[in-house]
Amino acid sequence: MNIPQSVIWEHGSIRLLDQRKLPHVTHYLTLQTVPAVFDAIKSLAVRGAPAIGIAAAFGVALSALNHPSDDIDEVKEQVLIDSGYLSQSRPTAVNLFWALNRMNEVVIAAPTADSLRENVLAEALAIQKEDEDVCRAIGEHALPLFNDGDHVMTICNAGSIATAKYGTALAPFFLSKERGINLSVFACETRPVFQGARLTTWELMQAGVDVTLITDSMAAHTMKTKNISAVITGADRVAANGDSANKIGTFGLAVLAKSFGIPFYIAAPLSTFDLDTPNGDAIPIEERDPTEITEVNGMRVAPEGVAVFNPAFDVAPADLITGIITEKGVIAPNERDIAALFS
Ligand code: MRU
Repeated sequence: MNIPQSVIWEHGSIRLLDQRKLPHVTHYLTLQTVPAVFDAIKSLAVRGAPAIGIAAAFGVALSALNHPSDDIDEVKEQVLIDSGYLSQSRPTAVNLFWALNRMNEVVIAAPTADSLRENVLAEALAIQKEDEDVCRAIGEHALPLFNDGDHVMTICNAGSIATAKYGTALAPFFLSKERGINLSVFACETRPVFQGARLTTWELMQAGVDVTLITDSMAAHTMKTKNISAVITGADRVAANGDSANKIGTFGLAVLAKSFGIPFYIAAPLSTFDLDTPNGDAIPIEERDPTEITEVNGMRVAPEGVAVFNPAFDVAPADLITGIITEKGVIAPNERDIAALFS
């Protein structure tokens, strides 16, 4: 089965699948500097919470390798400055901060400049490998929630290229394909920058998973007429009480799922939980450039000067979420069960 990967460490550089160009062009960028990694994250060349964290971790590795000094204090200071800079690339996905914190701990603990360079690269590779295993485990826990022949709706791209491999919300579909279970996916196009239309359909079609594309505004009608049995999405940050931020449009799907009486699942690794954020109101919601709405593929579709509101994420409140599928199993979205995950 063809399951694409978006971040590859190769010959001391990051090979990064440029997700802005998909599905028409499969092009890998070569990133060798911290500013190049920052720009790739900010401009959505790499996107999806775990993949952002992995790219940033390799960005810290690049920082260390690009500072050849033998003075441990000097290297530490420079690498921590670069790490702080990378943390400003996007605000909502907590995996970015989670991965950078892990990298910072390794930087701070390093006794010599050489060991620092060695250890940060090992840590970035470990973060990537762990995410692949975690995503596969999420898929294993998600698969029993569906039956052969089910129609399942998703939004954005929480697939292989949004993670190390397999994805979170899309993982069960790759596993179902491996095991001969027929699941059909209805993918919302995901305005404004079409991660569903461009990325989710591309990934699932390559793996031979049955996928049908709809616009975001077709979700209610599709639930009613196409026998949708569940909704599954990824998350960028799960608050301590279970409120979950994900790509704009997710909240609406959760409301619709409740209205139709169908389960609404969030699939997210533990690295996406933020116990320091008490609830969804405290999750920072990124607002992006108005041209993402006023233009489509560089062509203007709205009048010059129109006011624009372009939040990239929204929050599905815990009471609309049936369960959160993690690598440790499916949990109820409440403070007690989430705290227990980390105990
Ligand atoms: O703006 P994006 O494309 O980075 O938003 C991504 C999402 O909302 C994903 O659903 C989320 O990060 C989970 S990816 C496994």
